[in-house]
Amino acid sequence: MSESARDLARKLLAGNGIKEMTAQPAAPVAARKPTRVIRGPGRQFADHPEVAAAVAKQAAIEGVYASAGMPNPLFLPRNSPNDTVIRALGTELVNFSAYNYLGLSSHPRVIAAAREALEQYGASASASRIVSGEIPLYGELEQRLAGIYDVGDAMVTTSGYLTNAGVIGFLLRDGDVAFCDSLIHGSVVSGTQWAGCRRIGFRHNDPDSLRSVLKMSRSGFDRALVVLEGHYSMDGTVGRVAELAAVAREFDCAVMVDEAHSFGVFGATGHGIREHYGMAGADVDIWMGTLSKALGSVGGFVAADADLIGAMKAAAPGVAMLTGAPAPSGIAAALAGLDVLEAEPERVARLWHNTRVFDAALRERELNLGDSQGTPILPVIVPGEFRAGFVSATLLQRGVYAGAISAPAVPVGKERLRFFVTSEHTETRLVSAAELLAETIALADQLPAAMTG
Ligand SMILES: Cc1ncc(COP(=O)(O)O)c(C=O)c1O
Repeated sequence: MSESARDLARKLLAGNGIKEMTAQPAAPVAARKPTRVIRGPGRQFADHPEVAAAVAKQAAIEGVYASAGMPNPLFLPRNSPNDTVIRALGTELVNFSAYNYLGLSSHPRVIAAAREALEQYGASASASRIVSGEIPLYGELEQRLAGIYDVGDAMVTTSGYLTNAGVIGFLLRDGDVAFCDSLIHGSVVSGTQWAGCRRIGFRHNDPDSLRSVLKMSRSGFDRALVVLEGHYSMDGTVGRVAELAAVAREFDCAVMVDEAHSFGVFGATGHGIREHYGMAGADVDIWMGTLSKALGSVGGFVAADADLIGAMKAAAPGVAMLTGAPAPSGIAAALAGLDVLEAEPERVARLWHNTRVFDAALRERELNLGDSQGTPILPVIVPGEFRAGFVSATLLQRGVYAGAISAPAVPVGKERLRFFVTSEHTETRLVSAAELLAETIALADQLPAAMTG
């Protein structure tokens, strides 16, 4: 990686709130060196502990569903777009497993735009932008996103995951720190590992916890980035972004906000958590998001100060450098998705109306919604990995698809089914799914304890 571009980006970030600080003497390398774990013969992975565990777990899951004569909800083969009604298992299922909040992924305008781009530019960008030139679609979407976030510029990427990993990996290094909400997405964790910086957690969505962590630890590091989400995908909680960003500023930290599940969902026009709280663009240093959820396409984006974006475009591995540019059809689809969102803000209103209907139907049936705040992500807690899997598979047999989530994605004992509501669900379907779910959980409660551990 070009050190000078990285240094430039770090300086720009410093200009947005982090002043150069006298670095604390780092702990001696020898003291921090982890003990090397010998995992097995170098060329074989069959005895690699994580490979062996994943293979054994997959086989066990398949075995359980096969012996119970139930469909396996994992990797379910589907023959339709990921809409509110899908075709799978030879029938139609009411679907709650897609992040397609506004039903845009199969909207005729989105499909037409993608098809046109496919015909004009081909299926692949075939190289990175820096070496193979630009097509106007990239700049067009970037300017729209920069405007929405009220910042200097934006960059589109091939993946939301890689955007978090690559941006953090590019901006932080040994001696720096990322202060992360305890429920932060795995892609941010990957970014900190890539960066080689420290990662320190604070209690989920808790400004007091962030403040005490910063009081205790901030001075021990050079650059510091507080990383938050607008809408947390496992619990359906709303990021207290404005308050947490203000605390971060008190301690001279930069702030990065992941809008993966909040763009298209929050704000009267679906412009995300900034619109929801009425924040200024500059209250946050790095706005990150995905094109693969409400916008109905695939890819990621980052919006920030123009020079910072320029540096990342030229030199951040994985988001721009050493990686292919996003497929033209995906960017055209996202642009068309944005057009539909802006032309039809009633989709956002309908999403929230449907959410209220479903939330009320679940609560009336006294289901455990955990920490949910009544957002379009509605977790229904069904403790026990087997029980949650049983409920998901039984629902599938009865025509409803909602994924079961277990450890390590959520704590043991907090296994759940996650329901993603969209603007396109009908009230009738929402209420009957709630009823079916309540019946199925009651059925699972009758299973012998030995089967539901
Ligand atoms: C909070 C969050 N950030 C980032 C990502 C990664 O985005 P993508 O799926 O576009 O790679 C996800 C994906 O689910 C997510 O939930």
